[in-house]
Amino acid sequence: MAIRNIREFGDPVLNKVCKEVAEVTPRTRELIQDMLDTMYAAGGVGLAAPQVGILKRIVVIDVTGEDPHILINPRIVETEGTQTGSEGCLSFPGKAGDVTRPNYVKCEAFDADMNKITLEGTELLARAICHECDHLEGHLYTEKVEGEVYDVKSKDEAEDNK
Ligand code: NI
Repeated sequence: MAIRNIREFGDPVLNKVCKEVAEVTPRTRELIQDMLDTMYAAGGVGLAAPQVGILKRIVVIDVTGEDPHILINPRIVETEGTQTGSEGCLSFPGKAGDVTRPNYVKCEAFDADMNKITLEGTELLARAICHECDHLEGHLYTEKVEGEVYDVKSKDEAEDNK
């Protein structure tokens, strides 16, 4: 298990377009495992490779904490409806903003064995798929925020302030 350093806003690596993955090497598997470890350690629901400084089209998503999805070369092929809600990013710690996303997303990708997979999601999963795919194009959610980016209290602070 290895936790990688999460690149934060202002790091130019977050604005670059990522390269397609041609094959999964032992190093790619290590990267994917580290991305999962890093996402869980940071309490996030998704992480894209550029957030750990690697310009490859790889994302990990887990919106429940027990259902990890590994998406290599993901491509959104269908969307439906809209949802507007609070969205954050591990590259903007402690911040969130309201973003409108599709309420349903269908995504084609490859898994860690380079098998073709399809992932469908609604609500938070749909939002996470869109957010992470944007990272691979060098786009950040703050470009899509409606209104202001605001500070979010950590869960612990929110408990203390009850
Ligand atoms: Ni993000």
